[in-house]
Amino acid sequence: MDLSPRLQGIADQVPAGARFADVGTDHGYLPVWLLLQGRIQHAIASDLRAGPLQRARETAAQYGTAAQMDFRLCDGLAGIAPDEVDTIAIAGMGGETIAMILAAAPWTRQCRLLLQPMTAGEDLRQWLGENGYRINSERIACEGKRYYTILNVTGGAMPAQTPAELWVGRQSSDVLRAPWLDYMLAKVNRQLEGHRAAAVPDETAIRGLEEVAEGIRTMRKELDS
Ligand SMILES: C[S@@+](CC[C@H](N)C(=O)[O-])C[C@H]1O[C@@H](n2cnc3c(N)ncnc32)[C@H](O)[C@@H]1O
Repeated sequence: MDLSPRLQGIADQVPAGARFADVGTDHGYLPVWLLLQGRIQHAIASDLRAGPLQRARETAAQYGTAAQMDFRLCDGLAGIAPDEVDTIAIAGMGGETIAMILAAAPWTRQCRLLLQPMTAGEDLRQWLGENGYRINSERIACEGKRYYTILNVTGGAMPAQTPAELWVGRQSSDVLRAPWLDYMLAKVNRQLEGHRAAAVPDETAIRGLEEVAEGIRTMRKELDS
């Protein structure tokens, strides 16, 4: 089984021997791949909906890993006990949903979290900083024309984040950092254009986004120099 670059970016950050849960597992590729590699010995695969969880069961049956997995039908971490896991992936969901899942399970501050927001990464980074979580690093993945970031998070105090850092994470030497910054700058610029074209432009939002865009351009220049 080959993982997509996005899922591989998450899998690479799961420590050997981790007590692992994949929340919102859907197809179940991530835990099944980790079990096939022998990186972990057991995994919990959970999902809010029965259909996706059934897909995970089918993947596990196909690859012979079902005996090493528990399948839990639950909202977020509601069906997972704190002493069952030390590493949790929550991927392929909006940043607000990820924050809501963590808010309902504050014990996750004692775990390693691998978070991959599809949208609203800026809201998730802000929420993490305000709620006792620390982003230790981010890894960028590219699939076709889309870029993704995977936040490696533990409990702890997070240094203050600038508006641009809320959108693109802290500056790093990731090989995909430059195209990631270009990708996110284009996204911010599209939002700015939308605001400017509005019948009644929201000047506060425009000023905020201009500050974000300027911060991203500065980070991009730093990389070039
Ligand atoms: C787009 S899929 C992502 C699948 C996989 N994690 C990935 O990254 O490829 C999102 C999955 O999250 C599940 N989901 C959404 N909200 C959830 C919640 N509050 N708790 C658990 N699962 C949830 C959905 O049912 C769906 O199967």
